[in-house]
Amino acid sequence: MSAVSELVAEKSIVTEPQAGAVKLTMILSGAVFALMMVFGLIMRAAQGQWIEVDPALFYQLLTAHGAGMVGTAALSGAAIMWYFCGRHIVLTAGIFWAFLAFFLLGVVLILGSIFIGGYGGAWTFLFPLPAMSGGAWEAGAAAAFMLGYVSIGVGFLLYYLELGRQIHARYGSLLRALGWNLILGREDKNPLPPTIIAAAAVTIFNSIGIILGAAVLVASLVHLLVPGFEVNALLAKNLIYFFGHVFINASIYMAVTAVYEILPEYTGKPWKSNRLFAIAWNAVLIFVMAVYWHHLLQDVVMPAWMLVIGQLVSYFSGIPLIAVTAFSTFLYVRGSKMTWDLTSSLLVLSVAGWSVGSIPASIDGMISVNKVMHNTMWVPGHFHTYLLLGEVAMAFGFMAWLVRGKSIAQMSGLDRVAFVTYLAGAAGFVTVFLFSGAASIPRRWAVHYEEWLMHDRIGTLFSVLIVLATLAFVLRFVLRLGRSNG
Ligand code: HEM
Repeated sequence: MSAVSELVAEKSIVTEPQAGAVKLTMILSGAVFALMMVFGLIMRAAQGQWIEVDPALFYQLLTAHGAGMVGTAALSGAAIMWYFCGRHIVLTAGIFWAFLAFFLLGVVLILGSIFIGGYGGAWTFLFPLPAMSGGAWEAGAAAAFMLGYVSIGVGFLLYYLELGRQIHARYGSLLRALGWNLILGREDKNPLPPTIIAAAAVTIFNSIGIILGAAVLVASLVHLLVPGFEVNALLAKNLIYFFGHVFINASIYMAVTAVYEILPEYTGKPWKSNRLFAIAWNAVLIFVMAVYWHHLLQDVVMPAWMLVIGQLVSYFSGIPLIAVTAFSTFLYVRGSKMTWDLTSSLLVLSVAGWSVGSIPASIDGMISVNKVMHNTMWVPGHFHTYLLLGEVAMAFGFMAWLVRGKSIAQMSGLDRVAFVTYLAGAAGFVTVFLFSGAASIPRRWAVHYEEWLMHDRIGTLFSVLIVLATLAFVLRFVLRLGRSNG
């Protein structure tokens, strides 16, 4: 048996029912990604005045798109990490189903609040906006939106509780699973898979983020129903941005386990953890929680020391990411005879896209730039880069791998067309956002001036390419799944 097939055989603990739950989750994720992209396309075409969309509807679409995309990135990331953790620890299938049920209940509440109740306060539900709609929606709609988030949060907390519990049972403690023996140079007879180090780190920081998010959601809910109940607006803003920043980052840090577990099948070299890898993930654990202050650089009432830390951490937060994953991917791929099929192409692209996206993010984290850029299209420019070309590419790469079969063959002509279309569409789309930001076009405006329409229209054309390629990826996945189950 070759080293690679031993590696694959040894990693087959994932029980079929769990694989079934993960596949179902990926079908749902693919479908919602596609639908939310269509919402994005409608918004972009409306900004370009190619179609007419009432501004109230634009903000409802923006809210659904933001909450739907962030939620689906997290859902697909969670399914990927659950699947690969199942290779190293025994996870209770019922918990994943409960997680999915809470998630779907949350989706129903959120969609109802937006499209029945008219809620359009954006996915960041910034205090006190949900309670101050100016007559655009009733308090009940805002409450349903926030209850939807709480339901999703409960599902995620169950998910992390189970992961943390089983990691603790198998590896002794979360600290050991974070690689502290490796860092301290102690001998360890039970070497840690990279996926477990990643899962331990994400379990810790995303649980903290979700608990603080739940606290501000409950406070906002009480304020909504009992307006005399005071909430400190600055504290609420800090908690919301802490939760939002940590949650969206966690989606990528979960999905990257697909890179650690799948790429070795292509390079023939197992992805092993070492001291540098463990140090980098421990740095990620701290940085991802400390860096959110860069969202508040325009808030002059924030204590200056917090803003200085936010700026400094923004500079450093890209380094562990690049040291850990991008650099290693480069070394693994360079020294091996890779077969470039849809899976390997999307996964390598995802690491590149994630790394490139961190550059405009770091630029926005500089106070002098942030003062003029933060409310411009530069911001959607940077996060669409590491989401479209990062997390979403990881999810699509994982989906392609799930239906790949045992042998690895070169990419077919159709796959190549879909891949190139996605890459060209996404790269063009985010570049237009970045150019628009540099030209000071503001973000979140339903109606645009004449001078900005060229940007919007070029962006719309690139969006069409992304939507077409996404439909191809998702249909290919569903059809092949159907065939392999038939
Ligand atoms: C075809 C693909 C996509 C298109 C056409 C699209 C389009 C848009 C547009 C037009 C906006 C509003 C920009 C503005 O501020 O004026 C937006 C915002 C946003 N998009 Fe996308 N998008 C796409 C994919 C994605 C993906 C894959 C994600 C995440 C996984 C995502 C997450 C977001 C978020 C979080 C916002 C911010 C919402 C807010 O400001 O409240 N988008 N997108």
